[in-house]
Amino acid sequence: MVSSDPQSLSGKRILLVVGGGVAAYKALELVRRLRERGAFVRVVLTAAAARFVTPLSFASLSGERVYEDLFSLTDEQEMGHIRLSREADLVVVAPATAHLLARMAQGLADDLATTLLLATDKRALLAPAMNLRMWLHPATQRNVATLRGDGALFVGPDDGEMACGEFGPGRMAEPLAIVAAIEAALRGDTVLPPPVAGQGRLAGRHVLVTSGPTREPIDPARFLSNRSSGKQGHAIAAAAAQAGARVTLVSGPVEIADPKGVATRHVETAQQMLEAVEAALPADVFIGAAAVADWRVEPSADKIKKGASREPPTLVLRENPDILASVAQRREGRPALVVGFAAETRDVLLHAQEKLARKGCDLIVANDVGAGVFGADSNEVHLVSRAGLASWPRLDKTEVAARLIAHIADTLGETP
Ligand code: C5P
Repeated sequence: MVSSDPQSLSGKRILLVVGGGVAAYKALELVRRLRERGAFVRVVLTAAAARFVTPLSFASLSGERVYEDLFSLTDEQEMGHIRLSREADLVVVAPATAHLLARMAQGLADDLATTLLLATDKRALLAPAMNLRMWLHPATQRNVATLRGDGALFVGPDDGEMACGEFGPGRMAEPLAIVAAIEAALRGDTVLPPPVAGQGRLAGRHVLVTSGPTREPIDPARFLSNRSSGKQGHAIAAAAAQAGARVTLVSGPVEIADPKGVATRHVETAQQMLEAVEAALPADVFIGAAAVADWRVEPSADKIKKGASREPPTLVLRENPDILASVAQRREGRPALVVGFAAETRDVLLHAQEKLARKGCDLIVANDVGAGVFGADSNEVHLVSRAGLASWPRLDKTEVAARLIAHIADTLGETP
């Protein structure tokens, strides 16, 4: 998991080799995350990488000059390639394309990137990214096995939607997962995330998460629902699994994939979500990230007809069970930590404090949903607890998830 220590990589020197794939843009984000944690990052681009992202972007983000050319006299005068490869604590290749993996496995040294990878005396951590057929191809798998045998470490690839529209393994690991792998590699861990069961700060804990909207049927064709995408709740479940927890995710209907390593239960209505949550208890932590529909209607068995002469039908709304409050207020088997979300369009903090008290939970993650949060990749949240308030800047939802899980691990303490 990502360390909650903001300076977890302080003074560490990372040599980042960027290969030529669509995922190269994510390497920019990786540089930012590494710099945030106090690392020095020196970037080397392959010729193909420089066609996807500019050296200037990397130079601005890393605060260092960017290296591309093996035969540039200036580069050799300022810093020989041997020194460049040795002055790092870790060499990271992200994205590691099929071609770059093949060249590495063969020991080729036909450009600056591969020469450095051959000349280095440090470990290499590789984040593959390619089309799923290329990843699954026996040639690539052979190269991966060879590189593993040579001591290379791997993070990812993840399952997911590719830039080419296909779905499967081959997506580069998210920048924060690469950061976690870098932290682990620098600690000397040879097994990188996803962590082996039983390791991590939430090892031995059961974390139960709700995510997505609920869907309340009106008739066989229609329903009431909301705009929740499930991105935040799913990212939280993934981050908890990354921290070594056993995770159960109860998800309403969403368009995104089940997180890896998480037991996911799919439900539609609030009533079904409540039942699935109760069936999954006991848990050490409950995180209610779902946007549960507040109301339901008594559904009609047949499709409600428009009929020319009839008045429009009236929907009689009935209140749905409050899943968060019912978990927080359990007399027996209440999770040690109950976390709710507050999506508000105004007076966010005021409502969050009121919700904390009314629902009886320990922590409210509050956000302003007026500002295009539904379906977006980033979120700006405030943590409201009885101990006080913490406000985080606008962050990627995966970063919010990683920080929230780190905060939860801090709160629970290290011992189960
Ligand atoms: O009351 P409100 O819907 O604003 O509260 C939001 C929080 O309560 C979220 O954590 C949501 O998951 C949870 N909730 C719930 N069941 C409901 C309504 C909200 O668990 N019926």
